[in-house]
Amino acid sequence: MKVLFYSVHSFEIPYYEAANSGQHEITLESKQLNNETADLAKGYEAISIFSNDDASALILKKLKKGGVKFLALRSAGYNHVDLKTAQALRMRVARVPAYSPYAIAEHAVALMLALNRKIVEAVRRIKSFNFSLDGLTGFDMNSKTVGIIGVGKIGRIVLKILDGMGCRILGYDIEEDVTLEEKYNFSYCNLDTLLRKSDIITLHCPLNEATQYIINEESIEKMKKGVMLINTGRGKLLDTEAVIRALKSGKIGYLGLDVYEREESLFFYDRSDEILQDDVFARLLTFKNVVITGHQAFLTETALKNIATTTFQNLNYFSQGIKTENELIA
Ligand code: NAI
Repeated sequence: MKVLFYSVHSFEIPYYEAANSGQHEITLESKQLNNETADLAKGYEAISIFSNDDASALILKKLKKGGVKFLALRSAGYNHVDLKTAQALRMRVARVPAYSPYAIAEHAVALMLALNRKIVEAVRRIKSFNFSLDGLTGFDMNSKTVGIIGVGKIGRIVLKILDGMGCRILGYDIEEDVTLEEKYNFSYCNLDTLLRKSDIITLHCPLNEATQYIINEESIEKMKKGVMLINTGRGKLLDTEAVIRALKSGKIGYLGLDVYEREESLFFYDRSDEILQDDVFARLLTFKNVVITGHQAFLTETALKNIATTTFQNLNYFSQGIKTENELIA
């Protein structure tokens, strides 16, 4: 089968080459899928895309016209794909439901520790021979209350790590697994309680209509003063402008982001020669108590290997006419 991979970066290529059984004629394209690049897929039966590719209705229609029948997502999240339109066009869509929840969970905890222990500022000082400790005081994670919004595959690894650090953990989820309460220093609660009681809040729910801007002016108002907020989920879980107002007032004391609501036009490419046009992002960069990574929580060797393996399995199954549970349309 002829397959076009969009948004491919050099660090991924060896993993795709190793996972391709030779069954597929693959083209690796560095450009993102968008209105301008959709025509590149003409003549391909399948395409593979990542989380910042645009698979909205208009683009799916263009792809369909060009002969594309199958979308192999290399992500777990699928908020960037218009599944209703894909279904209407009789296109099939499969994802990689889990490639390494550890990668994302560990990155979320890394952000917590980097913010708490002021690692970025400390390293910067040491490099300029400034060994002063003023302003670097952190807090013990032990005995702090951490709220996890979305206690799924990633959320429960975060839970396990934080339990090991002696935290008290609260969870809010639309589905509860009571066995977690027996195993860990953990209890489920409603969103309101989680917001009011947590010293640290970390987001691990999917982005959908119910969760878009789950962190907004009103929810921030309920949080403790000086709360730490971590988002490795999706950018639109946060109303970034409301978060900036709360950083300015001191209501939010620390912010760790791996995702940003307008990241599609920023992340994954070297833009060091460009003039930053996004004023909201520019404002975020001015805060000392904000640490941002560019959607790299997934970026471990294990995760890359698993993404490649499952993506090619999905392509193999599609080419053999087999439907699996990785497919998103029934
Ligand atoms: P999962 O499906 O295993 O867990 C999500 C949990 O959120 C489930 O327990 C679900 O019941 C819960 N949930 C759904 N709607 C909710 C709501 N309205 N309120 C509260 N909880 C709700 O998914 P997994 O693998 O843990 O991934 C979570 C998210 O992390 C993904 O959807 C994706 O957006 C993001 N992600 C980010 C990555 C990164 O590199 N930064 C990489 C992989 C995933």
